[in-house]
Amino acid sequence: MTASPATNPLALVTGGSAGIGLELARLLAKDGHDLVITGSSDRVNAAAEDLRQSGVQVTPVRSDLATEDGTNAVIDAITDTGRPLDIAVFNAGIAIGGAFVDIPLQDHLRLIALNILSPVRMAHALIPGMARNGGGRILLVSSLSATTPTPYESVYGPSKAFLTSFGHSIREELSGTGVQITILHPGATATDFHARAGMGATEFGDNSWKNDPARVARQGYAALMAGETSLIGGDAATQEAGREHKRLSEEEKARRHAKMARPTAGQ
Ligand SMILES: NC(=O)c1ccc[n+]([C@@H]2O[C@H](COP(=O)([O-])OP(=O)(O)OC[C@H]3O[C@@H](n4cnc5c(N)ncnc54)[C@H](OP(=O)(O)O)[C@@H]3O)[C@@H](O)[C@H]2O)c1
Repeated sequence: MTASPATNPLALVTGGSAGIGLELARLLAKDGHDLVITGSSDRVNAAAEDLRQSGVQVTPVRSDLATEDGTNAVIDAITDTGRPLDIAVFNAGIAIGGAFVDIPLQDHLRLIALNILSPVRMAHALIPGMARNGGGRILLVSSLSATTPTPYESVYGPSKAFLTSFGHSIREELSGTGVQITILHPGATATDFHARAGMGATEFGDNSWKNDPARVARQGYAALMAGETSLIGGDAATQEAGREHKRLSEEEKARRHAKMARPTAGQ
């Protein structure tokens, strides 16, 4: 894309092709943000077409953010606009269900590459430009799983704990630059996420009790625009679970999570 005299602010949403990311992209588009959205599959193009109905420019980037090249493709797409980046939503992420040792090591490392290395690379590349331009807003999509051990998705929760602590850390360093960090911790949300994680045969496999992704996105978007530092996304039960995670021991939380995430007998 060549530089345009566009007056709309520009926003990036990784994983903007589906789920919570697509709902966040819809809110940004409705408020007149031009968008760069990313996804690993072709559906990023369909999502871009849908978002253009709001009258904004949308650039889809199809790339695998678990790779360095795939992450650099997104950074290049932002640079190629020649425009300041006003908002960055680092949302793309996966979980993998199953016992730690039963999952091939390469799969765990791929999760770490997507959930940790990619947002770190992008933040490192994009924050200096934001600061030079007088500021910007960053939304890190972490998880309620950042606040509990997560047996049977044993690398996922720790990857989100990293993201949360990373966000709180750089926020302090960035005070005075105008670059603001908001961390969203969704509870279980009704998207393709758990099916994709191979967790269909667990309590997380049933989408009927989970949070509406549009609601979670509205909460995250409101917090981002209000400059809040951190929030839990979801209904009253999810907010209560967040408070409970502060009271319970790590051992008790691990027992509870295992019950939810362990495949049911016979599966
Ligand atoms: N759903 C939940 O219960 C829940 C709870 C807490 C936190 N979260 C977090 O919320 C974020 C969004 O999750 P979601 O529920 O909206 O999931 P989702 O519906 O599965 O959407 C995931 C998005 O990330 C993209 N993506 C996945 N792997 C990718 C890769 N290797 N490279 C580039 N893009 C990739 C997907 O694009 P393609 O479809 O094209 O691959 C899609 O746009 C994640 O970080 C997740 O950890 C979710």
